[in-house]
Parts: sequence; C-alpha cells; structure tokens
Amino acid sequence: MAPTAATVTPAGSAPTTEEELQKTIAKLASLKPLGHTNHKDGRTKFGKEASWIESLPEPARQRFERHGIDLSGGYPITPDPDLIPKFVDEAFAVRNEDYAYIERGKNADPEKKALFGAAKEVKHLTKHLGTEIVGLQLSDLNDKQKDELALLVAERVVVFFRDQDLAPQKQLELGKYWGQVEIHPQVPRVPNGVNGDDLNGITVIWQDYSRAVNGLDLSFKHAIGGNSQWHTDLVHEHQPAGITHLHNDTIPEVGGDTVWSSGYAAYDKLSPALQQFLDGKTAIYRSAHQYIDRENPLRGPKPILREHALVRTHPATGWKSLYVNKAMTVRIVGLEPEESKLILDYLFSIYEKNLDIQVRFNWKPSKPGLGTSAIWDNRISQHNAVWDHEGLEPRHGTRVTSLAEIPYFDPNSKSQRQALGLSLD
Ligand code: SIN
Repeated sequence: MAPTAATVTPAGSAPTTEEELQKTIAKLASLKPLGHTNHKDGRTKFGKEASWIESLPEPARQRFERHGIDLSGGYPITPDPDLIPKFVDEAFAVRNEDYAYIERGKNADPEKKALFGAAKEVKHLTKHLGTEIVGLQLSDLNDKQKDELALLVAERVVVFFRDQDLAPQKQLELGKYWGQVEIHPQVPRVPNGVNGDDLNGITVIWQDYSRAVNGLDLSFKHAIGGNSQWHTDLVHEHQPAGITHLHNDTIPEVGGDTVWSSGYAAYDKLSPALQQFLDGKTAIYRSAHQYIDRENPLRGPKPILREHALVRTHPATGWKSLYVNKAMTVRIVGLEPEESKLILDYLFSIYEKNLDIQVRFNWKPSKPGLGTSAIWDNRISQHNAVWDHEGLEPRHGTRVTSLAEIPYFDPNSKSQRQALGLSLD
C-alpha cells in the first residue's frame, strides 16, 4: 500500500497528556468512515454516503457502470470504523499467521509461448526492467498465460498493458489467482457489484481523495508524500506484497507517470564485499499507518514493525534482490544505529539514483475511454508516482495486491547478472 498520512492521531500529532490521550481514544472510537473537510467546494460530508461520488472522474464512473459496480451507496467505500484497528497489537494481529502461497511463475514455460504467442507485440522498455504487452486483454488470459505472466513479472519487475477494458471483478480474480489478496483494514475500496459480487480487496488509488480526506500533503514545492515517494508496498505484513496490479482508468493528458526501480539490479550494483556482508542479514520494516501503543499510549502513534530478510531470493527466478526502501525500512538488525543509517542511506541511494535500473512509464492509453494496467512485483522493486500534474487533472485507479511468501534468503541463490552470465563489473 502506498504510504498515507497517519490516520489515527488528529493532525498527525502525538497525544502528550492523559487528557489529550482520552480525547484521541474517544475520537478513534467514534470514527465515522473517513470524512473530508477541505475539498474545493467546501463540502464536509462523511463516509460512503459522502458526495465524493460527484467528484468521481468520468472515465472511472463509466468503467464502474459498464461493469456493474454499485455506486448507489457512494464512492469510495470506507471500512466500518468499529473494524479499524486502533492499537498496534490489533493491527499487528491482522494476517499474522502463515498461509499457503503458490508461486505461479515457478513452473511456467520459460519461453512464455502461450502469452507471447497471443500478443501482437512484446516491447522491452529498458534493458533491465519494464515490458509492455500489446494486443492482449488481461480479462481474456487463461491460467497458462497467467502463470507465464507471473514469471515475466518476476523477471522484468513490471509489465504494462494499455487499452484495457478491465472489470474490477476481473482484476480481483487475477489477484486471487496470484496469491492471497490483501484487504486493508483502513483504506478506501471499491463498492461491491450490483449483483452482490464481494469486491473487498480492491483498493482505490486516488490522490485527490487522499489529499482532501487523509491530509496527504502534496504540492508543487512539496511533491513527495503518499505514493509520490520511493517505496515498496506492504512490507510490514507477515507475508508481504508480491504481484501488485494497478489499473489506472483515469489518466492526466500529460504527466502522472510512475517510476519503478529494480531490486535485482540494485543488488548487482553493490561490491561483492558489501553483498556478502548483507547476505543473510535482516531488517526491521514499518507500516505506512500508525496506531496507539497500548503499553505506552502517551508516546504517540507507532507503526507496525516486522523483521524480514534484507536480501531476499525470488522463488520463481531464484535471483537475489535488495529488499529495502527509504519510506519503510527502519534499521538493519545487529548493527549500531549509526552504522545501520549509513548503510541504509547508501542502499536507498542505489535504488533511487541509478537511472539505468529504472523505468518511467506514462499511462496514457492509445484508445480513449480505456485504461492501462501495470503489474509489478513488490518483492523486487520500489516505485514512485510522479506528482507533476499537481492534481489539476484527475488521476484515478484501482489496485489489487497479492500477498506472497515470507521473505527468505537462500544462500545458494545467485544475483540476476550472475545467473544470466552478464558482466559483474
Ligand atoms: C502505489 O504506490 O501503489 C501506486 C502507484 C501509482 O499511483 O502510480
């Protein structure tokens, strides 16, 4: 999930007195579905019945109507306040248990004949990551093609499909094929279908809404925040995000691009000595949202913290990837804080500054009225949505995240360049 402003503490500030704390807890207990107060026209309605439905961009509305999404109760749907975790331990407990994960890419045809054979064109957008498939509708893929696509995503980090007429129901179905679909306890989602289809698990990616409702702070001078910063989704989960599928149905005429950076290539940029030092290490990762610490409530909001492998092996390719990102990696386990900071800052910079291991994608479809999908693997990448359209034109999409395995490091695994026999210089 893209990081958003903390939603549990008013104005993001920590309660510092018992009285303030009680007020915060009372506020949390009575939370209505997320409301908005500073939309341009000054409306101050709350929850799913709020008239954000009136602000829903036309291409999104048409897509939803075409595919039988029930907009009669408003848009987007926000979770029942009673079900939103308020304390860190409650939030930590969400999905805090092992569940079976099937790596669909593992036994797929390495030549991907079924997928490529059905496409008009397969275009690699840069040397190391990013492939666009032309002439295929995602909603038509059979299981063999879905397996091959999972392998392609594992190899190429991110794969794009323009000109899609994608039903949210189909997007969810694809996500369920690739893993357990993440249902976020807090973030806004797409309503169910008019025929009762349960569409929980389809997250709304709509910066205009996040700015107005969640206080996401984005402007020309401050164009970093939320999904407009380098991050990897859902690293705090027990089994973090694997394949993630964003379908943007509303795209600015100019701008609103997204950039991805490859974790395989970031690892390959390091010296063998640093690679060896990091192999087998773990780090602490934090959640985007924050909660109250039951044991020490006066200390203010705290994220969920989870320990994972810092260099992880991808189960389909067997390649090593550097699993860090500035927004969510807190520290390397076993190092002094200063040592950890020094090394992490360097690792973040490898991902963020090397243009040769990045792909920047403009979402515009070639046919008006259709949308564009990006399917990426959060195990092996970071991404960053460029805030250059400044909210002057709408940008709206729906995202489904398939959670994957518990991150692991296989000491016998190779780096991508080692495995492909490329120069290690
Ligand atoms: C995300 O951060 O998951 C969404 C990226 C985007 O909006 O392009």
